[in-house]
Formats: sequence, C-alpha cells, structure tokens
Amino acid sequence: MKIAICPGSFDPVTLGHMDIIRRAALLFDRVIVVVMSNAAKSPLFTQVERMDLLKRAIDAEGIDNVIVDCYDGLLAEYAKLRNATAIVKGLRAMSDFEYEFQMALTNRKLYADAETVFLTTTSDHMYLSSSLVKQVAGLGGDVTDFVPACILPDIADKFRKE
Ligand code: PNS
Repeated sequence: MKIAICPGSFDPVTLGHMDIIRRAALLFDRVIVVVMSNAAKSPLFTQVERMDLLKRAIDAEGIDNVIVDCYDGLLAEYAKLRNATAIVKGLRAMSDFEYEFQMALTNRKLYADAETVFLTTTSDHMYLSSSLVKQVAGLGGDVTDFVPACILPDIADKFRKE
C-alpha cells in the first residue's frame, strides 16, 4: 500500500489545501493529513480545532482514503513511523520554492525512504494562504471563496471571540 503524508499547519485549512489533498488522494492508496507545528508561526486555531476543521472539510468532500492526524515531532520521524513513501506538498509560486526545497532536502537527509512530491497548485489558488484568510477574516472581510463552506462559521466564531 502506497502511503503519503500531507503535512502542514492548516491554520485554518483553505481551498488550496483541499485541492492538494483531493489530488493526492487520487495518486496514493492512503493519504495521512498531519497537523504539525511550524516553528516560525504561532497558530490562531488549536491543534484539536485544526484537526476538526480538516476532518469536516474532508468528510464534506466524501474522500474516503484520507485520514487526519497530528504530530509534534519531526516530519521525517512521522513519515518513518507511518511507513510513508511520499511527503506531498503544494507549490504555489516561485516564492514557495526555496523554502520547500530546503525542507525537502533536510527531510531526505533525515529519512531517505520518503520522497517529497510537489503538486503545483491550480491557478485559482495561486494567491491563497491561511495567513491571508486570517488577515481578511480578522478585518471583517468575506472568506467564502477561500475556505471550505463548512468551516466558515468556525472562522467567524473565532474572530468574534478574539
Ligand atoms: O503549512 P506550513 O506551515 O507551511 O507547514 C510547514 C510544516 C508544518 C510542514 C513544517 O514546519 C514541518 O515540517 N514541521 C514539523 C517539524 C519538522 O520536521 N521540521 C523540519 C522540517 S525540514
């Protein structure tokens, strides 16, 4: 069975993430979407909330070979633990490339049995990021075109509480 890991901070999941997850699910037998921490970011949603948002978005799409998990350690360690042969990342623009390339090389050094696979984003999602969603929503803007419909109330609630 070919297992792929789709890692990210997913704070929150966007339509761009969902596009990558959906396409990865067509390429691999099983995809594990894993909520991790990014040392450079402090998340708005808790790890449990981020997992819940992802699970609901995936359920809403009816994708049945994808599961959601979380892990606080190294991605390479997690890939080994799960016997994954691939780490799937979405590439939006050239600006993503250097950082992603650096991570891919580091992960290969740490665990050579998992290959990093880059899926290019669809042009509709080129500009999209979780940070942008938070900025727009935080200033009262409409994020309907940026995130799965089922998580819109959660975003509104979070900013109401903030
Ligand atoms: O969605 P993001 O924030 O771009 O995802 C980045 C993430 C979480 C995949 C990256 O920070 C990561 O792999 N974190 C886990 C810790 C780790 O393995 N760090 C070394 C990466 S080379």
